[in-house]
Amino acid sequence: MSVQRERTFIAVKPDGVARGLVGEIIARFEKKGFVVVGLKQLTPTKELAEAHYAEHKERPFFGGLVSFITSGPVVAICLEGKGVVAAARLMIGVTNPLASAPGTIRGDYAIDVAKNIIHGSDSVESSTRELKLWFADNELLAVATPNPNLYE
Ligand code: TYD
Ligand code: MG
Repeated sequence: MSVQRERTFIAVKPDGVARGLVGEIIARFEKKGFVVVGLKQLTPTKELAEAHYAEHKERPFFGGLVSFITSGPVVAICLEGKGVVAAARLMIGVTNPLASAPGTIRGDYAIDVAKNIIHGSDSVESSTRELKLWFADNELLAVATPNPNLYE
């Protein structure tokens, strides 16, 4: 797979959807040059939420996190492009929105850790795992066409 075909999993969480931030968030990634290759809205089941956040199973916030993420519609997004996993994390900011730099999504639009509006995969390995959980193969574009002016 070419480096330009790296993919990541992004979710606008129920707070971000309820606050009307879906368009703004997608616009940021599109303007950067990343291509949306999968997009859908769903209210996650408890099973999906627990699998998605399995690494946090033993943490004290796990129960609250699962009930929050299943509380309403989430917009699930698959983005493609060179370096997209790390770049999307930079664009999102750090876990605590108050510690996230202005200009990042969490830095611009959120305050509390538990209401940080967006998820992004933390590694290529995580993105592969998460995309399998959230999307069927036929829900993702097999081939995306990036703007020819973006790459060397
Ligand atoms: P984590 O994977 O550490 O953060 P990130 O989303 O930046 O990868 O945690 C997953 C989510 O769990 C986080 O986005 C918000 C929630 N969370 C809490 O509610 N309390 C906490 O103390 C932490 C660390 C996370
Ligand atoms: Mg994480």
